[in-house]
Amino acid sequence: MRFLTSSRRHKAARPILVALALVLIGGLYAAVSPATNSSADDTTTTAQIAQGRQLFAVSCASCHGLNGEGLAAEGAPSLVGVGAAAVDFQVRSGRMPMANPLVQAPRKENTFTDEERAALAAFVASLGGGPSIPTEDQYTPEGLSEEAIAKGGDLFRTNCSACHNFQGSGGALPNGKVAPPLIGLEAIDIYEAMRTGPGQMPIFNGAAIPDTDVQAMVGYLDELHAQPSAGLTLGGLGPVSEGLWAWIAGMGSLVLFAMWITSKAARK
Ligand code: HEC
Ligand code: HEC
Repeated sequence: MRFLTSSRRHKAARPILVALALVLIGGLYAAVSPATNSSADDTTTTAQIAQGRQLFAVSCASCHGLNGEGLAAEGAPSLVGVGAAAVDFQVRSGRMPMANPLVQAPRKENTFTDEERAALAAFVASLGGGPSIPTEDQYTPEGLSEEAIAKGGDLFRTNCSACHNFQGSGGALPNGKVAPPLIGLEAIDIYEAMRTGPGQMPIFNGAAIPDTDVQAMVGYLDELHAQPSAGLTLGGLGPVSEGLWAWIAGMGSLVLFAMWITSKAARK
C-alpha cells in the first residue's frame, strides 16, 4: 500500500472510499433483496448469455478470444469490463465484427438482429462490469430550454471539438486515425460513444458529464445540424468574421487538444 503513504494519498483515498462504500452497499443489497424477483429474470438472462456466448464464439472469438480475453496477435483488446454499452455501440454501428484489425473500424451495416446484439452484449457484460446499455430516458433530449442547448454547445466545444471539429463535421487525428462526423447520428450513439470511448476517443463518464448534460449536447448537435445552410450560420455575420471565428475556434481546439495530450502523457 505504498501509494497510501505517498503524496497521492488524498487523491487516491476518496475514490477508494467510494469504491469500498459501493461494494459494501452492493453486498448488503444482494444479501437483503428478496430472491423472488430474480428467478424468472435469471433464466432469461442465463439463456441470453448462453446465446451470446455461441454468437461470440463464431463471430468475435477469432480476435477477442473465446472468453473475450483479447488476442494480442490480432491486436484485439480484452473485452472484460468494457460493458454491454460498448458491445451495443460497436455492433449497432457495424464496427464489429471487424474485417481488418489493422485499420480503424469503419461504420458499416450491422448484420445482427436486435436480439443477437443484446445477447452478445449480455455475454460480454457477464465477463465483468462496465457501463450497461442506457435506457431511453438517459439519452433522449426532451423539452430542452435555450439555456440547456447553449450549455450543450459549450460542453461540445470544450470536450469534443478538438477532434470532431467545432461543427461536428469530423477531423483527422495523428497516426492516420479519423474522428468521424457527428451528423445524423442517433442520441444513443452519442451517449454510448461518450460512456465507452471507442478507439482513440477518451471515455466521458457520468461523473465528468452527467446524463442531463449529454442530453443537452445531443440537443445542441441536433439543432446545429438542422440549420438550413451547411453548418452554423453565425447569425450571418459575413465571411470575414466567420473566418476569424473559425480561426479562433480552430486554434482554441488545437490548444485544448495539445493540453489533453500532454495531460494524458503525464499520467503514464
Ligand atoms: C481525442 C479525440 C476525440 C475526442 C476529444 C472526442 N472524440 Fe468522439 N471519436 C473519436 C474517434 C477517433 C472516434 C472513432 C472511434 C473508432 O471507431 O475508431 C470517435 C467516435 C465518436 C462517435 C461515434 C460516431 C459514429 O460514426 O458512430 C461519437 C458519437 C462521438 N465520437 C462523440 C463524441 C463526443 C460527443 C465527444 C465529446 C464529449 C467526443 N466524441 C470527443 C475521437 C474523439
Ligand atoms: C478481425 C478482428 C476482430 C473481430 C472479428 C472482432 N473484433 Fe472487436 N475489436 C477488434 C479490434 C482490433 C478492436 C480495437 C479497435 C479500436 O479500438 O477501435 C476491437 C474493439 C472492440 C470493442 C471495443 C472495446 C472497448 O474498449 O470499448 C468491442 C466492444 C468489440 N470489439 C466487440 C466485438 C464483438 C462483439 C465482436 C463480434 C461480433 C468483435 N468485436 C469482433 C478486433 C475484432
